[in-house]
Amino acid sequence: MVVHTHAHADSVASYPEGWEAWPVVKESMTLPADTVLPPETSLFIQEAVRSYAWINNGEGSPLTIRVNPDKLEQYKTHGPYTDGPTVVAVSEVEGIIWVTEHFAGLPMYGSYNRKGQDISSMHPTLEPEFCQRCHDTYKDICINGTCTEPVLSSYE
Ligand code: HEC
Repeated sequence: MVVHTHAHADSVASYPEGWEAWPVVKESMTLPADTVLPPETSLFIQEAVRSYAWINNGEGSPLTIRVNPDKLEQYKTHGPYTDGPTVVAVSEVEGIIWVTEHFAGLPMYGSYNRKGQDISSMHPTLEPEFCQRCHDTYKDICINGTCTEPVLSSYE
């Protein structure tokens, strides 16, 4: 693993070939910029909504979350995770693939387009340091780097 320190950090997680065939565990949304959140909304969600309000010119986008089939059981318990790509969140309108990979138990992040090109320098919120600020900070919600409530309702 290479530790990047330059200003425009490249993706640290690698592009997981074949993610298109991974099972969908959740369909979600990045919300439009004019979304009015209820006042009791957690700081975590407020920050997440604000960070990605620019997507699709502020109009929001469906988000599909897919898990590496070899890691479905690990995902259900938020880890501990084995090495390799773990989960992707795909912004369907912009075609952004957010990747979380694990190495030695630690989460690493990356952003790619559908061609597998690194797009982490396209927007400040796509840099791996930015992902960490949320995914590694809210430790009561994001456990071992994954944030979604791992209900896996589509499998029950
Ligand atoms: C400000 C908070 C925040 C930032 C910054 C953030 N995320 Fe997330 N992330 C979330 C939330 C909230 C969810 C759960 C979304 C849902 O379930 O609707 C999520 C979900 C994900 C998922 C699906 C698996 C999971 O953890 O549930 C991946 C993969 C992911 N993010 C990767 C990234 C990457 C890569 C970056 C940086 C380019 C990033 N995230 C930046 C808050 C954030």
